[in-house]
Amino acid sequence: MSSLSVFSQIDEAVKALSAGELVVIPTETVYGLAADAMNIDAVRKIFELKGRPADHPLIVHIANAENIKDWAKDVPDIAYILAKKFWPGPLTLILSKHDKVPDLVTGGQSTVALRSPNNSLTLELLKKFGGGLAAPSANRYGRISPTTAQHVQDEFGLSAPLILDVGPCQIGIESTIVDLSQSPARILRPGQISVEQLQIYLPDLVSGAEQSSPRVSGDKQAHYAPRTPLFMLDREQLITMAKNKSSVVLCFDGLPDGLIGITTLKDASLYAMQLYAHMRTLDKYHAEQILIEQIPENSEWLAIADRLKRAISGSGK
Ligand code: TXA
Ligand code: MG
Repeated sequence: MSSLSVFSQIDEAVKALSAGELVVIPTETVYGLAADAMNIDAVRKIFELKGRPADHPLIVHIANAENIKDWAKDVPDIAYILAKKFWPGPLTLILSKHDKVPDLVTGGQSTVALRSPNNSLTLELLKKFGGGLAAPSANRYGRISPTTAQHVQDEFGLSAPLILDVGPCQIGIESTIVDLSQSPARILRPGQISVEQLQIYLPDLVSGAEQSSPRVSGDKQAHYAPRTPLFMLDREQLITMAKNKSSVVLCFDGLPDGLIGITTLKDASLYAMQLYAHMRTLDKYHAEQILIEQIPENSEWLAIADRLKRAISGSGK
């Protein structure tokens, strides 16, 4: 994209958003389906296009930490400390919502999710637009999040709104969500920013959504799911299981003899960056099953393990 076309694309996006239209925005995690967070009719279009239940809250994307006070009230100091350290970046903060935030954005809850995404085009768009952008991942409800503009096009076809295409997302899985509205603070969704990184600032931090805690749609067991049944097994089991049915595989260190699929390095950042693209590619084979080689069980792989667990339980539907 030439620099001139970047500016004209931002102008076009500002115009569309101001007119209550949707725009697909790039972020460092996944592409988002954005609307003016203060325009209820525009936000409603997000739910319609995604097929997302109306009580599932959206993240409001903002330009920087100074905007927190426009969307949240009774903001604890720790919110500013975390924003200063990790924004723009893949960290979403749950805070008590400002009275002006529409109920549709927060799923009727008293809290709001805020994040400043680390993508220069989207940050420029946010600055020019001047408001906040409510944006879930730009996929149909329950399906695999998009990490390229083509994925978004594949999801929505002719119904796709304006897409700001800046190439593949560098992180590839959704932001870490930390709920600062409860004490102790709680991680509701793991992401690239790890528990250990956050514990430096939040020593009492706990993990995992409680039954009583606010709805996190990614917390639904079935999510991020391919249509082909998906399984994760160690390499030997995978080779055995591949013999029974038509299979495609995602393996470390080369493909086992005779198997079709993708081979990848055992590097958590790279794996996360490519995971959703790989799942989409493997889904397109229309095999009877997708077999994924067991990933390492350590904190570096925690967010990937979380996404794979949900993808496995939502797959095959
Ligand atoms: O990386 C990301 O976070 C991407 C990019 C586009 O920013 N966005 C994203 O949005 O993953 P979405 O809607 O697919 O997931 C947002 C999650 C949902 O699980 C939602 O339930 C949760 O954030 N959420 C939003 N507001 C909340 C709130 N007030 N309390 C608890 N969870 C909330
Ligand atoms: Mg999503």
